[in-house]
Amino acid sequence: MSFSHLKPKITTILSNDHETSEQRMKEVCELLQTSVGYYDWVGFYFANEAEKTLHLKAFAGEPTDHTVIPFGKGICGQVAISNKNFVVADVKAQDNYIACSITVKAEIVIPLFKDGKNIGQIDIDSHLEDPFSEVDERFLEWVNSEVAEIL
Ligand code: SME
Repeated sequence: MSFSHLKPKITTILSNDHETSEQRMKEVCELLQTSVGYYDWVGFYFANEAEKTLHLKAFAGEPTDHTVIPFGKGICGQVAISNKNFVVADVKAQDNYIACSITVKAEIVIPLFKDGKNIGQIDIDSHLEDPFSEVDERFLEWVNSEVAEIL
């Protein structure tokens, strides 16, 4: 499904205030993971600033052992510090990378800002090599800005 078709579906999920924000984020993960062929794992991590750790709050795909990630560790932990998008075409080429599954070939992590502060991120793993483009970056920035509205 194209991103332009997914956007109204995401808006509908997020506007359902009968559900918790965590439940709505889980539905967004499920929608993305089932609708975009190369999005094999989709999750939202949020920062605990006092502990300097990221915590997995919602995901779709295989369960991961990496539900808590220290700032600075792996692609996710680096984005917690850099505040910048991180697109990894080939995870094998990364030194500071936390492997969740040997089937993962590429990853994209986009920080989530609330009132200008980096409070978390969306993390997507792909089983394809080099599948992510700037179109994914712009789309996922939009997803994060919509999620920030319900937090
Ligand atoms: N690969 C990530 C860890 C999280 S998993 O992809 C679910 C990283 O290097 O930060």
